[in-house]
Amino acid sequence: MMTDIRNREDIAALVNAFYEKVKRNGRIGHYFTDVVNVNWEKHLPVMYDFWEGIVFGAAGYSGNPINAHKKVHALHAFSKADFDEWLELFTATVDEMFSGEKAELIKQRAQSIATVMQLKVMNGDRFSL
Ligand code: HEM
Repeated sequence: MMTDIRNREDIAALVNAFYEKVKRNGRIGHYFTDVVNVNWEKHLPVMYDFWEGIVFGAAGYSGNPINAHKKVHALHAFSKADFDEWLELFTATVDEMFSGEKAELIKQRAQSIATVMQLKVMNGDRFSL
């Protein structure tokens, strides 16, 4: 039986598996490899902090994801299809690895953040949620 997401190690395994898919993805991989040449050694721990904060209330993340994506969007505009792809990969990765309350929570939070993010990034600040 699959376990739920229990700790930072589980978050790290999830995030690593997710970005392995993202990098190879035909629709969104290029944002990470070409548009921004992401430094994975730095980016991955930032993502562990981000999700650990969301799932377990840990205080490690102190960035501004909306602004980070506005900068990416200015270099190469995002489309709704890009966000849909991102979310599909994220959800699929969670479902392959974990099941339980935290697994449901992280998928739900990814969904709602992606929704807000695409409104704010693609429409400026005309939407405030
Ligand atoms: C179209 C979908 C998305 C693409 C292509 C994308 C791409 C990227 C890229 C290229 C970066 C690195 C920026 C840099 O290092 O300068 C980044 C950072 C990040 N992304 Fe995304 N992203 C997407 C959606 C999301 C969503 C939906 C979330 C959250 C649920 C998210 C969370 C983050 C976070 C937390 C960072 C780190 C920001 C920081 O440095 O503080 N991304 N993303």
